[in-house]
Amino acid sequence: MIMIENTKKLLEKHGQAHLLAFWQQLTPPKRQNLLAQIGRLDFAEIDRWIAEYVKKPESAAIPPDFAPAKSYHFNPTDPEQKRKYAQAADLGRQLISAGKVAAFVVAGGQGTRLGFPGPKGNFPISPVKNKTLFQLFAETIAAASKKYRTVCPWYIMTSPLNYAETVETLRSNAYFGLNEKDVLIFQQDTLPNFSHDGKILLADKDTIACSPDGHGGSLKALYKSGAVEDMKKRGVEFVSYFQVDNPLINIFDPLFIGLHALDKAEMSSKALLKTAPEEKLGIFCSVDGNVTIIEYSDLPDELAHKRNPDGSLVFEFGSIAIHIITRSFIEKLNAKGFALPLHKAVKKIPHIDPQGNLVKPEQPNGIKLESFVFDALPLASKSIILETPRSEEFGPVKNAAGVDSAESAREMLIARNAAWLESAGVAVPRKPDGSVDCIIEIAPGFALEKDDLKTKLNSIPEIKPADKIYLA
Ligand code: UD1
Repeated sequence: MIMIENTKKLLEKHGQAHLLAFWQQLTPPKRQNLLAQIGRLDFAEIDRWIAEYVKKPESAAIPPDFAPAKSYHFNPTDPEQKRKYAQAADLGRQLISAGKVAAFVVAGGQGTRLGFPGPKGNFPISPVKNKTLFQLFAETIAAASKKYRTVCPWYIMTSPLNYAETVETLRSNAYFGLNEKDVLIFQQDTLPNFSHDGKILLADKDTIACSPDGHGGSLKALYKSGAVEDMKKRGVEFVSYFQVDNPLINIFDPLFIGLHALDKAEMSSKALLKTAPEEKLGIFCSVDGNVTIIEYSDLPDELAHKRNPDGSLVFEFGSIAIHIITRSFIEKLNAKGFALPLHKAVKKIPHIDPQGNLVKPEQPNGIKLESFVFDALPLASKSIILETPRSEEFGPVKNAAGVDSAESAREMLIARNAAWLESAGVAVPRKPDGSVDCIIEIAPGFALEKDDLKTKLNSIPEIKPADKIYLA
């Protein structure tokens, strides 16, 4: 009785009394359930979010000292840099071999654009065997562990919405050949959803409407879930961060890992040249000397289109959401407490109206808040950027068709496989327009990078036009 009175007072003070509107209709367990959810909310923080994000129009305030960021080119540009790249790649290989590098995929998104039910990692993508994204990542991790004679652990962040299904996928597929104890699946937090006037929405009479707190939530979730502690026990010092939608990811890249370590960076990124000003990639810039990423939707058109005298884009480097994060950086952030800024998205959010009816809106009606992992870049004492060729590392599966779709990702996988084989001296049939005239899949266990093919040449058959080739 006292508890509900106190909760009522608290909610009234913060303008959220409607959360108890259906209290009289709830059974005791449902009342407990609702009270527990309310108890987990930090109302002082919520008041701040409402004032700072929910009620304010989205502003893309670009700071005055905003400039393009500097990056390492994928090929060294002078002899001194050549030496540094060789040293870095060596160091990277040593770090992987010593078990100091873990794979970390953020897989908590809802994948609404793709229209695929369930975890996006279950999306079938490989060109011949139709392996899923999760299977490709698992096989890559297994192949790296074998190549470097070590154990590379895999951390998977899910949201409460797809945790159970992700666990079930891994379990029922025997972790795709990995050891169960080397795969840690954990959940990110959620944040409440709001109406435009700052009221928390109810998904049901006893349930607050919530959504995942964005991939920025990973920096807290890694810590809170015990994943960081687990890394510490294993001696992992670096986290190779990637998104679940990119089947071309090179998870264990010795050069990237080595440059990050050699430069004593805390959080580093891979970048690629944007194809056009409109391409939907966050862009790298430097603010006050700190590497920062501005999301594509926040970059004013005029800056996105700005060109140098030689015709290149001034802000030419896009983020492909690939990072190396030093474990101690995550520990440091969490030990002293930190809050990444939130970003607001206006979305269609099903909810219960004041009469208790379920509303499934046709138009965006409410606000979801998310934090972005790249907002931690300016908090790092040092951050490097390594440019990477698009054809080697970026073919995201975001849309059902067209740009960044399953089809474009499969084409890129085939094109990369063909280029690797040709660089090893294997003839690959091509059409008159230069495109690859066969379907090739190289299993991660066969080659993780093109140099791995050199020792496998005897087991590669002759490839004829329209062939379907699977190399494993
Ligand atoms: C993202 C980046 C963009 C980058 C592009 C490259 C953001 C805001 N933008 O765009 O800068 O150029 O990828 O492909 O990230 N996720 C979670 N939890 C969440 C939300 C997302 O784990 O709460 C994961 C998703 O599962 C996915 C990744 O984060 O792996 C990216 O999410 P998504 O919303 O698809 O980002 P994009 O808009 O595609």
